[in-house]
Amino acid sequence: MRKLQNLLVTGGSGFIGSHFIRYVLTKTDFTGNIVNLDKLTYAGNPANLADIAARYPGRYTFVHGDICDRDLVQNILETHGIDTVIHFAAESHVDRSIHGPAEFVQTNILGTFTLLESCLEAQRQGRPIHFHHISTDEVYGSLGETGYFTETTPYDPRSPYSASKAASDHLVRAWHHTYGLSITLSNCSNNYGPYHFPEKLIPLALLRLLNRQEVPVYGDGKNIRDWLYVEDHADAVWLILNRGQTGESYNIGGNNERTNLEVVKTLCRLVAEETSGDVAEMEKLITFVKDRPGHDRRYAIDPQKIQTELGWKARHNFEEGLRKTVRWYLENQEWVQAVQNGDYRTWIHRHYGG
Ligand code: NAD
Ligand code: DAU
Repeated sequence: MRKLQNLLVTGGSGFIGSHFIRYVLTKTDFTGNIVNLDKLTYAGNPANLADIAARYPGRYTFVHGDICDRDLVQNILETHGIDTVIHFAAESHVDRSIHGPAEFVQTNILGTFTLLESCLEAQRQGRPIHFHHISTDEVYGSLGETGYFTETTPYDPRSPYSASKAASDHLVRAWHHTYGLSITLSNCSNNYGPYHFPEKLIPLALLRLLNRQEVPVYGDGKNIRDWLYVEDHADAVWLILNRGQTGESYNIGGNNERTNLEVVKTLCRLVAEETSGDVAEMEKLITFVKDRPGHDRRYAIDPQKIQTELGWKARHNFEEGLRKTVRWYLENQEWVQAVQNGDYRTWIHRHYGG
């Protein structure tokens, strides 16, 4: 078991990072402190953790800043006595990486480099730090109709996003092998759940269905993704942090392969059920549009290693996870509006003061 007392979470105001912080503080026996370093890009939303900030004022600290700012990172590591870094911060959307790759190289590669160098500096000063790197299944490339990604599948990234994530994974491993930095990595499949920024397929389709707008499906809609409820990802990362072997990678996935068209049709049915709508009317909104350039055909994770070594198992099946997600978006229309308007601060003020 690793000692986990003072955690630095990067990108903790984003979708998965905020779930991770919420999970650790509310659902585990962790008694230490968490610092969240986030630049608050378009994807970072303090509203995702407004209730947590109000509930854990002594144990949760937010720092607004960039992981590429080495002085800031070193200062946080020292003043907060950080023993563990969990690195979520990234530019995360494939479509954006196709239109503007520079930010991806900057944050995903140089930002990771800055964090690694800062941890190494702390180690040299006698303050060892464990570094957990959050990566993606996309580094392995695209599968045909059969087969699964395992931890030994060769890297074959195909988009600027996945190439930048692959580069950062290589840096993390190199800092372990060359400089002896304590590290673990995880490569997860597609997440979904509450607080998901509505540029990704599930929240985008869901909100468009609720507003009775067309839902864009790329290409023939037969690309396959392996979906995991976001809290199951947080649970897996927590297990790896506590008991994962130093230097090792773990693949995380829920054995939940679906074509994009299946996902959207399931959403049509759930939205119809939850809003007393007509499923056939919903399905009429599905619109096939031009394909994403270089669109990976299929991702599928083999999660055997984390299951057998650490006893992890996804707790949510797709149907119940997706229904929970639909209900959350229906019940949190104000959050949705605030995200769509970029008006988080008014929202936080209204709900939590300050
Ligand atoms: P997200 O886009 O929702 O959040 C990213 C967060 O990082 C935001 O809060 C943003 O403000 C912050 N950030 C961006 N650049 C920064 C910088 N330079 N300095 C500090 N903060 C910065 O992303 P997500 O979907 O929550 O993904 C989190 C991590 O998980 C990423 O590393 C991503 O590659 C990985 N991942 C995501 C998925 C998925 O399905 N979303 C699956 C597997 C792995
Ligand atoms: O596999 C893990 C990855 O999953 C993460 O590393 C990325 O950060 C995350 O964004 C996600 O990448 P994808 O490209 O798979 O997710 P996205 O939601 O953008 O798209 C899912 C699938 O749906 C993909 O095949 C493209 C398709 N799509 C997407 C959008 C936004 C559509 O058909 N229509 C759309 O409007």
